[in-house]
Amino acid sequence: MDAREMKVKAAEAALAHVEDGMRLGIGTGSTAEEFVRLLAEKVHGGIRVEGVPTSERTARLCVELGIPLKSLEELPELDLTIDGADELDANLTLIKGGGGALLREKIVAAASGQMIVIADETKLVDTLGRFPLPIEVNPFGLAATRIAIERAAEKLGLSGDLKLRMSGNDNFMTDGGHYILDASFGRIPDAEALSGELNSIPGVVEHGLFIHMASFAIIAGPAGARTLKAK
Ligand code: A5P
Repeated sequence: MDAREMKVKAAEAALAHVEDGMRLGIGTGSTAEEFVRLLAEKVHGGIRVEGVPTSERTARLCVELGIPLKSLEELPELDLTIDGADELDANLTLIKGGGGALLREKIVAAASGQMIVIADETKLVDTLGRFPLPIEVNPFGLAATRIAIERAAEKLGLSGDLKLRMSGNDNFMTDGGHYILDASFGRIPDAEALSGELNSIPGVVEHGLFIHMASFAIIAGPAGARTLKAK
């Protein structure tokens, strides 16, 4: 089974949790896109759902495939969000934002009664941090924010490159008009402490650590999909 097939397996298993009439948060990334394709088939088969996309990219795909969309303004309370992750651990703490949509993803997940994470088994790690942590920052004061992040990390014994994400020759710009610093800390033994430190920096808009947000995860491997609950 290749990586795409595993993503499809996880997406299929998540689709079983979607019920008629649900208000759905719809995630971003290649795994979430497999879910969107399967959801579109169900919509054409007659299920009624309303989706709130977590990015412009996901919104475009949903429109193309005929999934009814609403904004979070119109539907501020959602039943279920289904989204991918870049990394997750046994506590269901996630690193997200590899696709740059972490801010909207976090807002949408926080507005949902449940969040199901879909991922292939390569995303499951003992300790988070192999995947660089995306930190969304305001363009104003970028250099000062970078120094503040380095100092905050140092307090927790963390260090590593903070790389400004690029898109070709330009700075990568999120849907919210911000930049992303990808922090290569290597290991993040205490995600809650790091989250607290990052949240206290004014120039940090949001970071990609999702803590106590996932209700459960569906992890797909060559043997099929299994459900992972927090330890
Ligand atoms: C988007 O910003 C991310 O949070 C994605 O959910 C995450 O990067 C997973 O993407 P893939 O499913 O493409 O690995």
